[in-house]
Amino acid sequence: MKVDNNIQGSDQQKRGYVYIVGAGPGDPELLTIKAARVLREADVILYDDLVSSDLVAQFSALKIYTGKRKDSHHFEQDAINEEILRHAGEGKIVARLKGGDPFIFGRGGEEIEVLRQNGIGYEIIPGITAAHGASAYTEIPLTMRKISSSVAFCTGHPVSKIQVPDTDTIVYYMVASTVYEVLDAVVQKGRDENTAVAIVQNATRYNQKIITGTLGEMRKRAPSVSSPALLLIGDSIRQVIEDNWYSKKKKLLIAGEDSMISNTRDFIKVHFPCKQVEDDDHDLTENMEALDLDFIDEIYFSSPSCVRDFRQLHKTLPNRIVVKTADHDTQAEYIKLFSGNVDH
Ligand SMILES: C[S@@+](CC[C@H](N)C(=O)[O-])C[C@H]1O[C@@H](n2cnc3c(N)ncnc32)[C@H](O)[C@@H]1O
Repeated sequence: MKVDNNIQGSDQQKRGYVYIVGAGPGDPELLTIKAARVLREADVILYDDLVSSDLVAQFSALKIYTGKRKDSHHFEQDAINEEILRHAGEGKIVARLKGGDPFIFGRGGEEIEVLRQNGIGYEIIPGITAAHGASAYTEIPLTMRKISSSVAFCTGHPVSKIQVPDTDTIVYYMVASTVYEVLDAVVQKGRDENTAVAIVQNATRYNQKIITGTLGEMRKRAPSVSSPALLLIGDSIRQVIEDNWYSKKKKLLIAGEDSMISNTRDFIKVHFPCKQVEDDDHDLTENMEALDLDFIDEIYFSSPSCVRDFRQLHKTLPNRIVVKTADHDTQAEYIKLFSGNVDH
């Protein structure tokens, strides 16, 4: 028996092992303890579009981006499966990291099918799905006594797959280009046009944005929505949700080392990795360009070189942003490059 176990163990080692891991909806702190442990142990992390780069940056494994960002190699699902098998075949511990939960519109089911067929050992680690993240970070209960006793998760894409279940609350994923079609389908199904609706973009991230209205109003307004976004429909949505606990926190951009002591009860920290941007560093440029200063309240520069790196991508700073610096040299560099006022 003991010998068999050893053989199994070495065989397992030779074949590697795959963790299908949910990364949560965006806030890096919404990763589970188990997922964090596995990511620390992994040799390779294959991660998707919706996984925050801040989160992935914390781990030392080889990181392979499998999403669809512009300028990046685009992996089709078959290529992702092959990549997982290749690394597992080399005996590596592979973490396949997916936004939200792997089994909610995450294609986790397809990936384990391939692992099963190839005799590769695996585990699945659930993640906080976008609906749960958006619900908590906007104060929209998905169920609520006397108001909502059922909830459904649906897809808004493709249009041919839009379903309208008879639940009190409905959460639609993948609605960025189909909001109008979804609202239309819900009204066609006979839902009262006074039913409350919320669109939550970038849920749990520093740039979370909420648009609210009623079904009837939203249908007329047909707001433009950018991905990732969820559409929530149901009367547990109150019209005061813009003023939620998360929106009240200041968004603090930390450029460089995070040595600034700030109360996490008041601040959301957003990290800017200070690095010279080389022309061919598409991945880094993409992440940096994605930073939306409209949502930032304060910036902290930890060194003069961080001021210079930041200036490479952002030539000006909106006046309303409060700037803090680590020391006098950093302050001098900031004044030189941005000729702005520093709140030191
Ligand atoms: C392919 S699905 C993946 C869902 C993911 N597995 C989950 O459990 O959240 C992608 C969709 O999830 C939703 N989504 C993911 N993260 C989001 C976020 N932070 N804010 C709003 N919607 C999000 C959007 O509807 C997006 O189009």
